[in-house]
Amino acid sequence: MPGGTIAVASDHAGFDLKELLKRDLQAAGREVLDLGTNSTESVDYPDYGTAMAEAIASGRAQWGVLVCGTGIGISIAANRNPKVRAALAHDVTSARLAREHNDANVVAFGQRLIGTETAREALRVFLATKWEGGRHAARVAKLSKGCSQ
Ligand code: RB5
Repeated sequence: MPGGTIAVASDHAGFDLKELLKRDLQAAGREVLDLGTNSTESVDYPDYGTAMAEAIASGRAQWGVLVCGTGIGISIAANRNPKVRAALAHDVTSARLAREHNDANVVAFGQRLIGTETAREALRVFLATKWEGGRHAARVAKLSKGCSQ
């Protein structure tokens, strides 16, 4: 598992899974930065995706875990920052490939869509998998510049 601080963030619809994954990370001895939310009271997912982007872009965290109802809105919000490569994962394979091919630094889950045990294993695999580099390097570099280049 690579080192570094792991930020976690969710909206209300992802709160329970975010808390569970946070506890798993802490039990594994990881440094965790919890960006909220802190309850199931309704909030707006862009606020938490943006908070994640700021934590990654500033270097306060090296990795991120996002959860909302579907994982879609909160990952869209985070990905508006070019320092973020947030991958929405529905299973262990997509989590692994997000690291191997895309060098994703943030993984997103949909609490309403993914099983709890699948999310836990997908996060373990995401954090344990190295980027392959090689043929993927130029493609990943283009993500930071914008796709038209
Ligand atoms: C909240 O109801 C829900 O819209 C949000 O968690 C997320 O799924 C949006 O993409």
